[in-house]
Amino acid sequence: MSLKRTTMEQPSTFLQRCHGTIAAQDRMQMFRQQPVTIWLTGLSGAGKSTVAFKLEEHLVSLGHACYVLDGDNVRHGLASDLGFERKDRRENIRRVAHVAQLMNDAGLIVITALISPMSDDRAMAREIIGPGKFIETYLSAPVATCARRDPKGLYAKAMAGEIASFTGVSAPYEAPSEPELLIDTAAQTPIESVTQIFAYLRENSLATVATAAATATGQEASAA
Ligand SMILES: Nc1ncnc2c1ncn2[C@@H]1O[C@H](COP(=O)(O)OP(=O)(O)OP(=O)(O)O)[C@@H](O)[C@H]1O
Ligand SMILES: [Mg+2]
Repeated sequence: MSLKRTTMEQPSTFLQRCHGTIAAQDRMQMFRQQPVTIWLTGLSGAGKSTVAFKLEEHLVSLGHACYVLDGDNVRHGLASDLGFERKDRRENIRRVAHVAQLMNDAGLIVITALISPMSDDRAMAREIIGPGKFIETYLSAPVATCARRDPKGLYAKAMAGEIASFTGVSAPYEAPSEPELLIDTAAQTPIESVTQIFAYLRENSLATVATAAATATGQEASAA
């Protein structure tokens, strides 16, 4: 197999990108899906992990290859050296965005579940993943609702002053101004949220592949 090499513009003149012969279109045909990243953002307790894993379950039950990058999980390994200061949160998002981009490149649908409170950090993630592939999904719920849910007991600790820089209590959350999807988890059940996200995917990314796959099958049939 021959490798195509192109010089990278940024990091170093010593580095070159290598490309194999398998293209994004090949992977799309193989998995029968358009790889996108559903970027869930919202306060702690808004329901990101809950919705992410239920959406994954639904997509997998339909034969889709997908994976959840959950904030708490990546902090056990990929980002175990990072804290919750502004700079570290940005670095966490940068790393997760690059992993999501690689997974998309491999053909997988990715669902991320990170608070990702700052608009410019999410804009960076959009740029890394690619505008057409980044589906910013705002799980909206008032702080009071999230604090009432308090699934990890963190709001109680934050309100008692035991946690510094807790989003919504002692650190800011910048709500997306124009998300691709706005999900009101205070008014919906998790299943209703999954249904809303899936409907968006079906109308946009999944529908595109169904058409592409049908066209390819038609071409194969007429070539035979
Ligand atoms: N409509 C809803 N959507 C999602 N979760 C809901 C909803 N209604 C109630 N919940 C409950 O709210 C809690 C949400 O917790 P979850 O861990 O999913 O939040 P999170 O956004 O991932 O928080 P964190 O940022 O701290 O990881 C769960 O206990 C879930 O059962
Ligand atoms: Mg979570």
